[in-house]
Amino acid sequence: MTEKKRILTGDRPTGKLHLGHYVGTLKNRVKLQHDYESIFIIADLHMLTTKNSPEDIAKIDQNARDLVLDAISAGIEPDNVTFYLQSAIPEIMEINTLFQNLVTVSRLERLPSLKDMARDANIEMPYGLLGYPVLQAADILHVKAHLVPVGKDNVAHVEITREIARRFNHLYGEVFPIPDVMVGEVPTLVGTDGQAKMSKSLNNAIFLSDDAKTVEKKVHSMYTDPNRISADVPGTVEGNPVFIYHDAFNPNKQEIEDLKTRYRQGKVGDVEVKEKLAKAINAMLDPIRERRVIYEEAGYIESIIEQGTHRVRQMTQQTLMEMKKAMGLTGVWNRIRRKAERRAKKQAKS
Ligand code: TRP
Repeated sequence: MTEKKRILTGDRPTGKLHLGHYVGTLKNRVKLQHDYESIFIIADLHMLTTKNSPEDIAKIDQNARDLVLDAISAGIEPDNVTFYLQSAIPEIMEINTLFQNLVTVSRLERLPSLKDMARDANIEMPYGLLGYPVLQAADILHVKAHLVPVGKDNVAHVEITREIARRFNHLYGEVFPIPDVMVGEVPTLVGTDGQAKMSKSLNNAIFLSDDAKTVEKKVHSMYTDPNRISADVPGTVEGNPVFIYHDAFNPNKQEIEDLKTRYRQGKVGDVEVKEKLAKAINAMLDPIRERRVIYEEAGYIESIIEQGTHRVRQMTQQTLMEMKKAMGLTGVWNRIRRKAERRAKKQAKS
């Protein structure tokens, strides 16, 4: 049997996962979990780059739990994948320090994602946020991942990882595989309000943990074609959030085609389109809800994180050792230590 290739991916523990995460990357993660050895990071150090108040930090426990619960409820099998808490593995920070010299400031300054994050958080760019993709490279490469399934806004970061891996291998010898990136079939899902992106902070998200009633309410308040003032006016399907969601979540393609045709002709009301959409989303979420109840009752989320973290830390230590050897850093320390020891012995004799 050949050894499986490895996936490393994950999220910051900032809150609950929503449908945008689901179609953007979570679905891929669920699908690939048997073909790859999968490792999921809870990236709390990354969270600190924009949220580092004591209040934010106090929420990490609960958010980490929610993150794991969302993932395993969505179909990630806890016996099959490994979760770990980033801040519990200090060697990741060491690797981060070594990688910082393999990328230029101007390369990082050109990334729009970092500027967006600073703007959204209402802060000036901290040094740590500029280094966000470097720390992410440490996450990905310390387990020598081959594939990184992420949302669209993380693609540029994985590109930095690839550059850092190539640079390291070129300077010091082949240590790292060059990881590929993978984005979901709906890279960016619009919000329920029609804004470009579903996001917790924009208040336009449907969460995986929403109950059926909440989903109905959110769907019924969704933005549709603004030019269509009544059901008998022909409407536009393209770019219409309700139909984007139908395409993303309703497996009944025939029903969608029928609704689209009638919508274009002015022969269907928003209410029917939305009712069918809420039904489809709830049907998709039902098995997720069932698993959530089971896992919540089992109450072993902390153990999943604890055991995973120990397992991953051993891999990190191994990789760090290998890196330092390749770089010649272990040699420097060994020579100095040995000389000091010899001198101490001599002195003891005389
Ligand atoms: N940047 C990811 C996010 O937007 C979180 C993350 C940190 C990550 N390290 C990673 C994702 C490594 C994939 C691989 O939340």
